[in-house]
Order: sequence, then C-alpha cells, then structure tokens
Amino acid sequence: MEIIHSIAEMTATSRQMRQAGSTIALVPTMGFFHEGHLQLMRFGRQRADRLVVSLFVNPIQFGPNEDLQRYPRDFGRDATLAEQERVDVLFAPDSREMYGPEFQTRITVEHLTAPLCGGQRPGHFDGVTTVVAKLFNIVHPHSAIFGEKDFQQLVVIRRMVDDLNFDITILGHVIVREHDGLAMSSRNSYLSPDERQSALCLYESLQLARHMVSAGEVDVDRLLKEILARMQSYPGVTVDYVAVVDQATLQEKKKVDRSAILAMAVRVGATRLIDNGRLC
Ligand code: PAF
Repeated sequence: MEIIHSIAEMTATSRQMRQAGSTIALVPTMGFFHEGHLQLMRFGRQRADRLVVSLFVNPIQFGPNEDLQRYPRDFGRDATLAEQERVDVLFAPDSREMYGPEFQTRITVEHLTAPLCGGQRPGHFDGVTTVVAKLFNIVHPHSAIFGEKDFQQLVVIRRMVDDLNFDITILGHVIVREHDGLAMSSRNSYLSPDERQSALCLYESLQLARHMVSAGEVDVDRLLKEILARMQSYPGVTVDYVAVVDQATLQEKKKVDRSAILAMAVRVGATRLIDNGRLC
C-alpha cells in the first residue's frame, strides 16, 4: 500500500491508474477505523480495480464548539488496517495541504442541508461538500462509497454530484452495527460503559418504530410520541431531533410509507450520535 500525503502526488498517481485502464473507487474517511470503515473498503475493493482511501479530519466541517481537537486519531493503526484490506493508496493530506492560506471557497447544497443535522450544526454540510468535492477533483475516482449512517450526508452528496455534473457513481453502504444494534461510529470511543448502554436508545427506538409500523401504525405523531418517551427513559440522553422524513427530499412526513426514514440524533453525555432506518 502506498501512503500519499501530497495532493500533486495523489493526482499524478490517479492519472497513472486511469492511463493504465484501471477503475478507481474512493472511500473518504476521517480515520480511526472500525468495522464499518473496513466494510466500506471491502465494498470498494469489489467495485473497482484500484482502491483509494482518504484519511483527513476535515476541520471545516466542525463547528467552533464541536470535537475537532479531541476527534480520535491513530494513524499507525489505521494504516495497518487499510493495508490488511488491500487498499492501494491511503491518501492522508494535512490541513495546510488541503486548505492553503488563501482558501475561501465553499460549496453549499441549499435545501437538503436545512433540516435534521443541518439545523443543529450550521455550516457542517458546507464543510462536507467542499472537502468531498476537493477529494473528487484530487483523486478523480469512478465511484465513491459512503456509509448510510450519515444518511443526510449521502443525500446531500448525491445532490451535489448531480448538480455539479461530477462523473462519479455514488454508492451507499448499509449501516454496520455492533452485536446489540449500536451503529458503528468513531465517536462511540468517547462513551463510558454507562453511556454505551444509553446509546442503545437509538437502535431500540428504531426497533420500536418498526414494530409499531408492522402492527399497523402509520401516524407519524403517534410514532414520535412513543419514541420520545422511550428515548427519555435512558439516563443521560438528550434528544437533538427525531423525525420521519422522505428519503429523497428530507421533508417531514405525516404518514409512514415506503419512502419514510426515521432519522435521529441524540446526545449521550457530551457525545452526539446519529442513526436512521427505513420503517417498512
Ligand atoms: O463521513 C465522514 O467521515 C466525513 O464527513 C467525510 C465524508 C469523510 C468528509 O470529511
């Protein structure tokens, strides 16, 4: 596996791969790999001849009071895991390489970034779309793979790719969960044992909602009332949002149907966690 820190070198390497007739899959990450990341890599491995993984903790997608400084990092361990997954290139630029002193451009996807996490984290999605567009221009992949846990992020990136005519296929990968249902996330490493128990409120709520829907409940208000009561029964949990939204427009729904996604964000102690899932 090649480890590349420079943008110029990454672009030259991708160009050579393309000239050799290879297809390239990109898995963008912020590192501190867990099984969820490794599954994205395995998926990418199957989709293309060459697999590039980017590892960059992107400062412009963190708000001033968010966890940029303490975001977990372990480059040595990540490099070993990526190598084991037969990654061809681990692209790990630093912030100065990605954002020079004159940097002043942002990409904004307008309406899709307003609800859900967009309401709680102003500027977050501009930071995501900007870095992802840069990675696309640097790596020039044929396909890029994103986890469905960050469901709004995936919808926003698909919109950007369509709107800006990136010739890249965006592939979503199903949420990878721990044995008890907690969605895998680098931020799970912040949780104390008690908080880890409370974090199950997300998956339990999803299961409760699915159970209610399979028993015939389609009214979103009644569903949300039950879910909120369930979430509040877990110690240390503050709900940021719980909503049933249309999977394409992210608009809130009144009735559950096949296009409905339950989207949730909570704080467990100081840790913000998200989860989502279909209801039928
Ligand atoms: O999902 C993430 O890890 C990040 O938001 C991404 C897509 C790598 C952009 O920094």
